[in-house]
Amino acid sequence: MKFIAYNVRDDEIPFIEKWGKDHQIEVAYTTTTLTPETIEEAKGYDGISGLQTIAYTKELFIAFRKLGIKYLALRNVGVDNLDLQAAADNGVKITNVPAYSPESIAEFAVTMALFLSRKVGYMQQQLRQKQEFHFSPDFMGRLISEQTVGIVGTGRIGQHAIRLFKGLGAKVIAYDKYPIKDTHGEFHYTTSFQDLVRQSDIISLHMPATPDNYHEFNHETFELMKNTALFINTARGSIVDTADLIFALQSGEIAGAGIDTIENESADLQDSRSTKQVTDADVIKLSMMPNVLITPHSAFHTTRSVMNMVNISMDHLKAMVEGKPVSDIVD
Ligand code: NAD
Ligand code: COI
Repeated sequence: MKFIAYNVRDDEIPFIEKWGKDHQIEVAYTTTTLTPETIEEAKGYDGISGLQTIAYTKELFIAFRKLGIKYLALRNVGVDNLDLQAAADNGVKITNVPAYSPESIAEFAVTMALFLSRKVGYMQQQLRQKQEFHFSPDFMGRLISEQTVGIVGTGRIGQHAIRLFKGLGAKVIAYDKYPIKDTHGEFHYTTSFQDLVRQSDIISLHMPATPDNYHEFNHETFELMKNTALFINTARGSIVDTADLIFALQSGEIAGAGIDTIENESADLQDSRSTKQVTDADVIKLSMMPNVLITPHSAFHTTRSVMNMVNISMDHLKAMVEGKPVSDIVD
């Protein structure tokens, strides 16, 4: 058996090579994004390991069938970019890695909340743009322990985020479309999504992107938020109307934002060897604002995550080819 991994970053290579050596299985890798055009590179391989936020389309799954490739093991959590019907129609079995390190993403959301609450962006802007190095009233921050944090989505990542924010002394409230029955008194759910939006000083998103929540954070939602509120999105870009977010920040409807995931992420975003200049006008606008922290979909990116993403994805491919039971089937 032999496998090929697409969209491989340099930091994944040692883990891929080690897995191949440990299992005596050939694993090729490429920095290329998996598309109907690039799948030709996988000819002759038994399975593909993938990681990307651009779409896995119907045309791609037709190409899988034509090449006789039956297995796609994602190295990531999110499955919003897959045409699952087309995968099933073309006999492609898919796995993901649902829990490679939920704490990595939760810690990043807290990092963003701390950065924004303590106005670090304003300090950086004053020094970098004006070469001034002194106090300013703009730098006065707020303690997390004096804020109400609203967590949307109380799954693996959301629950870690709740623990971390509670550890810093925050009052935590939550909303989930499918709430947990027993929260063991750790946090309480608001009666509605709108209640969470109105009451929170910090809102942090931890739900998947679904057709139902496309642009759920739009002009109306930002208007409901406190003018002093901070908004953090490490979930998926499609949940937020980016133009409305920019308006909310510019008009003072909200006080700041941490944006790790943004609409229409390009294939280039995941190319660790890219030297291209950013051209997305929204990314450029957001990057100029002192009350915004914008990062290239990096909340996941820790050593623990990368090791688990590679190892679990490759284990899934091996088990599928061997016809053994696999836990993380996506259907
Ligand atoms: P999970 O499945 O464990 O939890 C998701 C929770 O969201 C569940 O409790 C579910 O009931 C809830 N939910 C579903 N639809 C909802 C809606 N419309 N409104 C409110 N709640 C809803 O998933 P997870 O492991 O916690 O991951 C959550 C998301 O985080 C992933 O789907 C992915 O999009 C994103 N993610 C981002 C990164 C990153 O690097 N930025 C990394 C991993 C995952
Ligand atoms: C995920 O695991 O779903 C992520 O968002 C990480 C990313 C590298 C695709």
